[in-house]
Amino acid sequence: MKKLFIKTYGCQMNFYDSDHMSNLLNGHGYETSENIKEADLVILNTCHIRDKAAEKMYSDLGRIKKIYENNNLIKPIIAVAGCVAQAEGKEITKRSPWVDLVVGPQAYTELPKLLKKINEDSKKKEINLKFPEIPKFDHLNFDKKIGKVSDFVTIQEGCDKFCSFCVVPFTRGPEYSRSRKSILDEIKIMAQNGVKEIILLGQNVNAWRDNTNESKAYTLGHLIEDIAKIDEILSIRYTTSHPLDMDLELIKAHKNIDKLMPYLHLPIQSGSDNILKKMNRRHTAREYLKIIELVRKYCEDIAISSDFIVGHPGETNEDHKKTLDIINEVQFASSYSFMYSERPGTKSSEFGEIVDENIKKIRLHQIQSKLNHYQLAFNKNMEGLEFPILITDKNKNNQLLGRSPYNQTVYIDEENLPFKKHHEKLIGSMLDVKIIKSNQNSLLGSFTKNA
Ligand code: SAH
Ligand code: SF4
Ligand code: F3S
Repeated sequence: MKKLFIKTYGCQMNFYDSDHMSNLLNGHGYETSENIKEADLVILNTCHIRDKAAEKMYSDLGRIKKIYENNNLIKPIIAVAGCVAQAEGKEITKRSPWVDLVVGPQAYTELPKLLKKINEDSKKKEINLKFPEIPKFDHLNFDKKIGKVSDFVTIQEGCDKFCSFCVVPFTRGPEYSRSRKSILDEIKIMAQNGVKEIILLGQNVNAWRDNTNESKAYTLGHLIEDIAKIDEILSIRYTTSHPLDMDLELIKAHKNIDKLMPYLHLPIQSGSDNILKKMNRRHTAREYLKIIELVRKYCEDIAISSDFIVGHPGETNEDHKKTLDIINEVQFASSYSFMYSERPGTKSSEFGEIVDENIKKIRLHQIQSKLNHYQLAFNKNMEGLEFPILITDKNKNNQLLGRSPYNQTVYIDEENLPFKKHHEKLIGSMLDVKIIKSNQNSLLGSFTKNA
């Protein structure tokens, strides 16, 4: 078997794709290796969302080149996949002639064919950025994928929303919902392979719908209901949702389906209507708050998280204050926040009214202090509570790991385990855990029942 080394950047959808690339290539003579020095094929599965993400790939390419040169090793085949591949295409092989193969996120099922061509003529560059008519999901092989306890399933790809700052509609293509059958088939096989928690993925996961069933709308809420019927699946999560696609069916699912965890990641980006308009988000801050109110009506304890961008072109101090206000109002359980990064080809890159980098930094700091404050308070509220936790991992410090229903990482120390040895046997079990301590980014728990 030849060796494949794969590095993944960016969002969870890229991690899902990387797993499927490894799985696909396993059937074509490659086994995955953690050691880059022995690799015959290196794949960088890249992200284009912010400038830093793309630059990281180029600096990694430079570092990888040096590893082979400094150790007098034979150069492996170097492939760039993912969103930088889609966005920059041929430019990558111009800037880094060392790269042999560029393949977009919808075209990676062609990898075996592309590799065959390169093996026949090593001087040739292969580039495939197509959006195939038969979607990639119809080519994937689910049987061989090794199950983790908690694993991702992409159900929706692409985006038609065209927020002015964002590259995703260009890199992932138009909005596409995978068929209900294909999703459920994959999840059933995952369940047989030991997966206990399913995390449904999509750039706009709640825009997912079953397009084959025209008589009755079958949306994400219905899909979750069907997944919950699979006995082996104990926990269901989904991400990322868009406010415009939040429907009552999904909100009700949080009340009616026990296996659906009480956590909603619903990015707002800014609290200012002026900026939301410039961003082409197509909703106001008030409309967002109305959704949160409704969600909390059906699921009182739900944890809400969001994404924020500071320093979008035209953002004034007033606009920034409104973002701080909305954070105070919603009191998010956790969030991601970023400085605006200008992306080629996007509307925002043509706006002018650029916000000074130092101002961006100050605003990011202010937002993050506030977000951290609410996150710490949310975590503190967990102390003394008990809930079932799916044990997914064990770390180097001999702690067992899982996620709370509210998506916080929970560590369980060895001294708090029911027995000292072989506690990795507990991985995959759903166990009652009491929270004994909270931190900024995690919780510490102890088992309440003998496992
Ligand atoms: N579809 C999701 C988000 C996908 S991208 C949604 O609509 O919310 C993930 C996050 O990256 C975004 O929510 C946004 O906060 C951030 N992001 C996207 N483009 C960015 C840019 N040009 N600069 C800074 N952050 C950006
Ligand atoms: Fe990007 Fe907007 Fe689409 Fe989200 S909804 S992926 S931010 S264009
Ligand atoms: Fe990045 Fe592409 Fe995901 S740009 S965030 S890897 S969809």
